[in-house]
Amino acid sequence: ILKEPDFGTPKSKAATMVSLEIDGIKVSVPEGTSVMRAARQVGQEVPSLCAADMLDAWGSCRMCLVEIEGARGTPASCTTPVREGMKVKTQTQRLEKIRRGVMELYISDHPLDCLTCAANGDCELQDTAGEVGLRDVRYGFEGEKHFGAGADPKDESNPYFTFDSSKCIVCSRCVRACEEVQGTFALTIQGRGFDSKVSAGIMADDFFGSECVSCGACVQACPTATLREKAVHEHGVPNRSVLTTCAYCGVGCSFKAELQGDQVIRMVPHKDGGANEGHSCVKGRFAWGYATHKDRVTTPMIREKTTDPWKEVSWDEAIHYAAQRFRTIQEKHGKGSIGGITSSRCTNEEVYAVQKLIRAAFGNNNVDTCARVCHSPTGYGLKTTLGTSAGTQDFKSVEQSDVILVIGANPTDGHPVFASRMKKRLREGAKLIVADPRRIDLVRSPHVAASHHLQLRPGTNVALMNALAHVVVTEGLVDEAFVAERCEAREFDRWRTFVAEERNSPEALEEKTGVPADDVRAAARLYATGGNAAIYYGLGVTEHSQGSTMVMAMANLAMATGNIGREGVGINPLRGQNNVQGSCDMGSFPHEFSGYRHVSDDKVRTLFEGDWGVKLSPEPGLRIPNMFAAAVEGSFRGLFVQGEDIAQSDPNTRHVTAALEAMECIVVQDLFLNETAAYAHVFFPGTSFLEKDGTFTNAERRINRVRPVMAEKNGGMAEWDAVCRLARAMGYNMHYDSASDIMDEIARLTPTFKGVSFARLDREGSMQWPVDDAAPNGTPTMHVAGFVRGKGRFMITEYVPTEERTNRSFPLILTTGRILSQYNVGAQTRRTENSRWHEVDRLEIHPFDAEERGIADGDMVSIQSRMGAVTLPAMISERMPQGVVYTTFHHPTSGSNVITTDQSDWATNCPEYKVTAVQVARSNQPSEWQMELEN
Ligand code: SF4
Ligand code: SF4
Ligand code: SF4
Ligand code: FES
Repeated sequence: ILKEPDFGTPKSKAATMVSLEIDGIKVSVPEGTSVMRAARQVGQEVPSLCAADMLDAWGSCRMCLVEIEGARGTPASCTTPVREGMKVKTQTQRLEKIRRGVMELYISDHPLDCLTCAANGDCELQDTAGEVGLRDVRYGFEGEKHFGAGADPKDESNPYFTFDSSKCIVCSRCVRACEEVQGTFALTIQGRGFDSKVSAGIMADDFFGSECVSCGACVQACPTATLREKAVHEHGVPNRSVLTTCAYCGVGCSFKAELQGDQVIRMVPHKDGGANEGHSCVKGRFAWGYATHKDRVTTPMIREKTTDPWKEVSWDEAIHYAAQRFRTIQEKHGKGSIGGITSSRCTNEEVYAVQKLIRAAFGNNNVDTCARVCHSPTGYGLKTTLGTSAGTQDFKSVEQSDVILVIGANPTDGHPVFASRMKKRLREGAKLIVADPRRIDLVRSPHVAASHHLQLRPGTNVALMNALAHVVVTEGLVDEAFVAERCEAREFDRWRTFVAEERNSPEALEEKTGVPADDVRAAARLYATGGNAAIYYGLGVTEHSQGSTMVMAMANLAMATGNIGREGVGINPLRGQNNVQGSCDMGSFPHEFSGYRHVSDDKVRTLFEGDWGVKLSPEPGLRIPNMFAAAVEGSFRGLFVQGEDIAQSDPNTRHVTAALEAMECIVVQDLFLNETAAYAHVFFPGTSFLEKDGTFTNAERRINRVRPVMAEKNGGMAEWDAVCRLARAMGYNMHYDSASDIMDEIARLTPTFKGVSFARLDREGSMQWPVDDAAPNGTPTMHVAGFVRGKGRFMITEYVPTEERTNRSFPLILTTGRILSQYNVGAQTRRTENSRWHEVDRLEIHPFDAEERGIADGDMVSIQSRMGAVTLPAMISERMPQGVVYTTFHHPTSGSNVITTDQSDWATNCPEYKVTAVQVARSNQPSEWQMELEN
């Protein structure tokens, strides 16, 4: 099992080095390093209980005392910084005696059930007692307050871990982890001295009822068995580990899967993980049980018609059946009559295999991916302005930011581990501007308060951004030197004239955006003059009819103020899915090969044709919405769906299901029989991330390894292998011996991946693309010396109001989003205990809007749009501005996509999930659609 060293206190960032001697060993460390850390670096193990290198030194346990030549007493090594020429002794008879005495006190108030304790073999108290040579306890063990009859009962309220205060040594590591690492401040130490104890909040009875978000940081920090995973209680301490990557959001946290045999006992965040540095959230840390859920389908299945029952068959039969049906369709309706959708849930290698299947074996470019409905405008907007379809920074960069502008993103729910890093920087004094219709948690949470909350009306992003730019341009806040050196002058001048127009002033736009002009002015000044300013944004930016325009507007603002090309600044999409960046990189779009190169580019096509040994089409293929339209109209008749639940996650459900029903052959490759599989004819059982061998690319372009933790549960078929076999059955010879081979091909054909291989990733850890001759070790920050496209390009961003208008029949605007505990359509998280936090989707509505309609908290309400209706319970919430309602889409029966419309981004067709005009009314029955679904 991988045990990461713990150096006791955080690493010092100082540049000056200090030399000292520890137990006669010479060592040189950065100024500000603790004596403890320096000692551990040279292998001198100072015992400790209250220290951990994820946390600031605390100095309470008195175990780590040392002697320092010329100094009086025995200072704690964790709180003593090194000094030049210092001579330290970590082991003397005097120290030994003191440490033993301290330990004796601890143990006198600790139950002696080591052999039957869940932490046996994984307990720092136990280890340290051994280390200091504790042999007897003179105080006896009776009369203790903390265990036995006087003890508090165990708190089992959290589904994933227990809190047994009888074992607590009040080292406060849990409290500090919750504050310093997670930033939630759910725990406190109540009482004083011997009576002090850890408690989950003051208002709450237990963990579940408290502010706790179940990130597990406290459990990880706890040196005793006080806070312990329930799985460890149940199965015992794990005995082997495999390093891998979380398969939920685009943060891409690294984890150690800890196992006994092939049973995962727990997932522990990996300290060396570039994206998470040892932290995690409730999904990655605890919600992986779906991988072994009984609902998983593990045998291939086929059926003639979707009304027939499924028939379990061998892999060979399923593959040949699918190939034959696809071939028949192509013979009848032409090459372009079939296509496929790749999945951001899958590895780069699996995605690459599917797009190759489509281009090389199907013979067309009808491939698209879920990024169509989330971040396609990011790709378009950033490519147009800066030259790369990806964010500019790594997550660590936020540590250097002075002003953070969060737009249309809710990181504490959507990207929790990044939110923790951001909150840490905010606690250090960075300023925050939030632009969001809802009052998200970041606006005001413990020790974090936004300087400005620009509570704009959904659909007016571009107007707001133009207003901010107007202030920058008209108040002389442009970084003229940056613009002159790095951007195209003519385009900049055009843009400057455009945003300076009076109609783009905060005053002129106030009525449209709903944001007071003074706030906009103040926020713009802060962003432009407050030091390093960074933009982080999410789907609240992209999923609009002007999604691409908005991305370009943000890039304009960043360029105009010189906030690009170094640490602490930049413009960063918080990408939703684990590998959505990767699936785009791998050529999942109908107009691009891997590395964002257009299919019409003869040179690129020739390269691929040479390598793949087949003629490729220069014509861009169909996007998902076009596939659906063509299916309804009859020319598109077959679809390979890799790990996507389009029936639930795409907008305008009725239209999507009509398209799916119209097709002759749908092949679904997935873990579960999802909503889309109801329309499928062939089912290929997939593999969970715990079974995959490959790579994921996160939101910061970081390529992380995904390693098989257990054997494939689908009869030993890697997903890419099933895809290769299908290609062969269709007559195109596609073959790889391993996932690593696929990466070698990707590296061979994609300039930005040139230096990537499994061997290198295994050796060196993660790498951020581009990894090429110019940047052999990867690129944490983009556009440092110049923009990838040469000069930065300012684009005119005219605000065009969405066609989705409110009126008397549909007076409210509906917007949708995510919650921390659930993940998108919930296919995975609903199959875990995470549902305890979010059992149903609710409609959040402002008290006035509710009152006007006679709606009370918890009432069932019907939400009617121009497209359809659903019924959900209402939740009265002052987070909402008047006139705007909000819901999540984690449960299939909620059907929020029944009401979303066909409106989409002008450039990329990304659907306008965030703006739907609706009416809300009390209702005591499910909608017509929901009733149909139930039957
Ligand atoms: S699980 Fe996380 S949020 Fe909950 S108390 Fe522990 S550290 Fe705090
Ligand atoms: S619960 Fe664990 S980490 Fe927290 S104070 Fe007690 S022993 Fe320390
Ligand atoms: S923040 Fe994202 S990647 Fe990290 S553990 Fe949570 S869901 Fe997984
Ligand atoms: S580790 Fe230094 S006082 Fe606890």
